[in-house]
Amino acid sequence: MRALQVTRLDGPAALEVNDVPEPTPGEDDVLVDVRAVGVSFPDLLLSRGEYQMKPDLPFQLGVDFAGVVRTAPAGSGFAAGDRVACVLPWGGAAEVVALGADSVFPLPGTVSFEAGAAMPLNYLTAQFALATRAGLREGETVLVHGAAGGVGTATIQVAKGYGARTIAVVSTEEKGDLARAAGADEVVPVDGFLAGVKELTDGRGVDVVMDVVGGDLMTDSLRSLAPLGRLLVVGFTGGTIPEVRVNRLLLNNIDVRGVGWGAHAMVRPGFMREQWEALVPMMESGVVAPPVVRTYPFEEMGTALTELAERRALGKSVVLL
Ligand SMILES: NC(=O)c1ccc[n+]([C@@H]2O[C@H](COP(=O)([O-])OP(=O)(O)OC[C@H]3O[C@@H](n4cnc5c(N)ncnc54)[C@H](OP(=O)(O)O)[C@@H]3O)[C@@H](O)[C@H]2O)c1
Repeated sequence: MRALQVTRLDGPAALEVNDVPEPTPGEDDVLVDVRAVGVSFPDLLLSRGEYQMKPDLPFQLGVDFAGVVRTAPAGSGFAAGDRVACVLPWGGAAEVVALGADSVFPLPGTVSFEAGAAMPLNYLTAQFALATRAGLREGETVLVHGAAGGVGTATIQVAKGYGARTIAVVSTEEKGDLARAAGADEVVPVDGFLAGVKELTDGRGVDVVMDVVGGDLMTDSLRSLAPLGRLLVVGFTGGTIPEVRVNRLLLNNIDVRGVGWGAHAMVRPGFMREQWEALVPMMESGVVAPPVVRTYPFEEMGTALTELAERRALGKSVVLL
């Protein structure tokens, strides 16, 4: 079968599609014929050896993917022919993948394989960030950095699913249009976003900031928070890890909370399934519908990851098998 492999840590341009043997499923494994693989930021970091996890070379890329169950163990809740979405720390970018049933989720009939492959990592992260870490309540306002990206669009939609108002922060008009199409109530440009937030909230600020960018946005993000607001640290696409002067937290009674979805979810059997079940009604109502803006042939995962690295990707990209 074809598999997308990292054989040296030289980034997306060095990825290889190689012929490898099909996996033999363990007795508890579900075997999936893969139809679509999401293009995710951790894939980019893994291809450069910059991710927190460092698999031995060569390894298979692919964090989230969707396909059809070929075989499943009795009692797993899955059967041959089921349409599913899946998530792994890495290894999903191949024609056939074997994985534990805990990482496999039923795909509602209305959701395509492309959308299924766009969801697990970003939407489960957004759900964990907003529900578990921020304790988001209906009627609160969420500011979303990198709002036209994968996690950003997921956050807009999950926040709306919980009845929150969303303000999207973006770097270009095109990204603003995409954030709006994904469901954002308002859009502000990243340059000067604090003034935009204050204006849109009558000076009060927002209840939650979802920050995938980090870097020099941090201080104005903290200034954007209303009293008792929570800033969620999710990623550092801006390239630098900011420092927080903790007097700011005391002055306005605000929190900075870390979000490490994988570290929490992947070691708690059943947790991801509960999260998925919280999202299914949002998928069925249409509020959760990932904007898959571009699809690529399997062999072009490297091109898709380069778009992500160069800040040109919109929404989520997916490669098709
Ligand atoms: N903590 C967790 O559990 C968790 C889970 C999943 C993902 N993540 C992390 O979340 C981050 C975002 O992932 P994603 O899939 O949303 O990525 P993405 O689709 O590439 O979106 C990231 C956004 O960041 C903004 N950005 C600002 N400076 C950038 C730069 N120098 N290069 C690239 N983008 C830049 C861009 O928006 P503008 O151009 O509009 O500024 C871009 O749309 C990544 O760091 C990822 O590793 C964390």
